[in-house]
Amino acid sequence: MKRLMVLTGGGDCPGLNAVIRAIVKRASQEKDWEVIGCIESFNGVLKEPTEIVVLDPASVSGIIVKGGTILGTTNKGGPFAWPIKNNDNTYSYVDRSDEMIRKLQILGVDAVINIGGDGSQRISQALFEKGLNIIGVPKTIDNDLSATDFTFGFQTAVQTVTEAIDKLVTTATSHNRVFIMEVMGRDAGWIALHSAIAGGADVCIIPEMPYKIEKIKEKIDSRYNKGKGFCIIIVAEGAHSATQGKISKISSEIGYTNDNLGGIGNVLMQELKDAGVEHDIRLTVLGHIQRGGTPTAYDRILASEFGVKAFELVLEGKFGEMVAYRHPEIVSVSIGKAISKPHLVSPSSRMVKTAKGLDIEFGN
Ligand code: F6P
Repeated sequence: MKRLMVLTGGGDCPGLNAVIRAIVKRASQEKDWEVIGCIESFNGVLKEPTEIVVLDPASVSGIIVKGGTILGTTNKGGPFAWPIKNNDNTYSYVDRSDEMIRKLQILGVDAVINIGGDGSQRISQALFEKGLNIIGVPKTIDNDLSATDFTFGFQTAVQTVTEAIDKLVTTATSHNRVFIMEVMGRDAGWIALHSAIAGGADVCIIPEMPYKIEKIKEKIDSRYNKGKGFCIIIVAEGAHSATQGKISKISSEIGYTNDNLGGIGNVLMQELKDAGVEHDIRLTVLGHIQRGGTPTAYDRILASEFGVKAFELVLEGKFGEMVAYRHPEIVSVSIGKAISKPHLVSPSSRMVKTAKGLDIEFGN
């Protein structure tokens, strides 16, 4: 019997369980493969005792509708930077990758599928370079991986934001207010752009198009120029003005290497007041609600396609590859290439032109 280990790493997103299910179902069609799941990214192998579960069709039954991941996940630490507490309560980081590869050999693991975002796929690539038979499956609500047209989880996040905009519109019209909604996406404006179009927003501020506050004020004024009005502004967490950088904080969490983005909504609200906007302004920060809940049908399908393809790459021995969607095909690309550059919104793209055609102001 050959053994495949599946794990989910990095921040969660809707559709992870659909990938796990698809891998297990496809693998069960082969007589000589069994699947195990590693709990909390690679931590399940690194911990003593190990935390590994058997994944068979019965254990993945019904999980396609569930958000999150049945395997748990983490975006801290990992095999190359395992945190160890020192006597003085500070932390050091040790490279446990060789030890982990040895443990995988002892566990009889022939191949690994790592479902994760860019940080997780960097770990996949480094492990591949050390000889591990590994396949990557991209995930992120941010849709910021250049190797794939879409990542699963993105459509669900856009749906969540769109429904939130729909709700804000009713209260904004009742009170004639300006509403700012801050959404996720890191350095990419995909969630903001798609949901601004779907929700009929008036202003969309994205990292790729730094804003000038006067342009946004002009748009607000035009929305109120006949007396009563309202205005919906969607701002991506990584957005910034033409003169200032993005708002981010270094996290104090042990083993967490991402910057914490967020706060631009508040800054924007103050800047608009300072620029002379006299209407009520309210801020909504959607936060992790965008990552939660049941995946949309689209994300379940894309995630299922990725899962089946990932297992087929294992069968073909195409290690070091990551599955990707290149319309109309599900393809594979080298992980190294996939993580080399982010997928950002181009200011001259069709979607931006569409938004401008709908009178959405980018403020740049
Ligand atoms: O990458 C997905 C994402 O949700 C980003 O949009 C956001 O900036 C970040 O993760 C939040 O990470 P955490 O869950 O660690 O707070």
